[in-house]
Amino acid sequence: MKTSGNSQGGVGLARIRKLRTAEAEIFRAARPKSAAAFGKGIAGFFGGVPMHWMNDWPTPFPVVVDRARGATILDIDGIRLDDFCLGDTGSMFGHSPPPVARAIRRQSDRGLTYMLPDADALVLGRLLSERFGLAEWQIATTATDANRFALRVARAVTGRPKILVFNGCYHGSVDETMVRLVGGKPVNRPGLAGEFRDLTGATKVVEFNDIPALEKALADKDVACVITEPVLTNSCMVLPDPGFHDALRRLTRKAGTLLLIDETHTISTGPGGYTRRYGLEPDLFVLGKPVAGGVPASVWGMSADLARRYRAYNRTKVSGYSGMGTTLSANPLQFAAMRATLEEVMTEANYAHMEELAERLASGLSAAIASHGLPWHVTRVGARVEFICAEGPLRNGGEAEAAHAPDLEAAIHVALVNRGVLIAPFHNMMLVSPATTRRQVDRLVRAFGEVAALLAA
Ligand SMILES: Cc1ncc(COP(=O)(O)O)c(C=O)c1O
Repeated sequence: MKTSGNSQGGVGLARIRKLRTAEAEIFRAARPKSAAAFGKGIAGFFGGVPMHWMNDWPTPFPVVVDRARGATILDIDGIRLDDFCLGDTGSMFGHSPPPVARAIRRQSDRGLTYMLPDADALVLGRLLSERFGLAEWQIATTATDANRFALRVARAVTGRPKILVFNGCYHGSVDETMVRLVGGKPVNRPGLAGEFRDLTGATKVVEFNDIPALEKALADKDVACVITEPVLTNSCMVLPDPGFHDALRRLTRKAGTLLLIDETHTISTGPGGYTRRYGLEPDLFVLGKPVAGGVPASVWGMSADLARRYRAYNRTKVSGYSGMGTTLSANPLQFAAMRATLEEVMTEANYAHMEELAERLASGLSAAIASHGLPWHVTRVGARVEFICAEGPLRNGGEAEAAHAPDLEAAIHVALVNRGVLIAPFHNMMLVSPATTRRQVDRLVRAFGEVAALLAA
């Protein structure tokens, strides 16, 4: 369904705006304490918020949180929300999962950072190798950093200058991935602040699922690494065509190009991510966000062969600063939280629960869409579900970008909050955690049905 000048996702703009205005009023009226506390923005912060993304929520002001536990957030006005955003994946396993909370409590009086390994670190490397299948690992603090470091290794060992990304990708604020196709031409992603370089010199970009374009772009043998998620999740979810990952692996190997799989969001697939579920064979693997249950941490792994090549490279370079690492990375709080997450939270049993309820959510939303005759669709990757206000399936980042219906999505999000449900502010992502209950899923499906009815009326 094309978005036209006066409609989005098959719904007239006038109706969308009316709903958004009415829902914004309801949101404000229900939260006098939050409105007073937040004011026109929190004093002392640029833009009125401690991190500018907090202004991206479509509500009139962000929900001001009192506390969060499991899959529930309580705001300072005493309003309870079923949380399906879960910190945009950082809390994918629920807020303060009990084993992680216990590990943090244990560690909290044993030192928080010392740039040395401890007893938890002694088991973590093996845990990561067993879980994700790559041989050798490093710990960083954000997925952004993990990607950045992994790309450095790729350039170092191949001696090649370029990387390749898929259009519409997001791998954190890694400068060199910020390239887009606009009108079929690579350009710096529109909107970048302070970027003074033409990034297209070092980054090639092709559409996801476009095997001939990929083959052509790799043919010059100047690409060190293809960095991709197994499923594009940044715009709306774009699933790989059957055979796409096989072709990607075959073509990268043929061109001497390394393959970095970023599982930061697709870890929703299962305890070993999409990689383990579907037998992918990356040279480099990155996971951030929920890997330590909400404590800032990330991991990046290398295959045995790549680790060997990187060791050989290191023997050839001047010793000293590699351009990788940050002081607080690999601290004991991260070790403790990550070990608890891997051993006690990212379990088959928890994922079975997440998957079952995510399937219930996806079919409930699909049924609501169908019953109101809306031209929308639903996708799911394990515990992650999205509704997309356009017909599907989407095949690449270009199509995903065009499928966005910003006014419509914003109105739906606010209306859902007023019905007790929080979903991610960027795209329409909903995550099911081990703590999420069937009742919460059914409430979301019901709320979505009510909102869909208002829009389709
Ligand atoms: C696929 C992917 N990789 C990496 C990142 C970066 O994570 P962080 O912002 O924690 O560095 C994101 C963030 O959304 C992401 O979606």
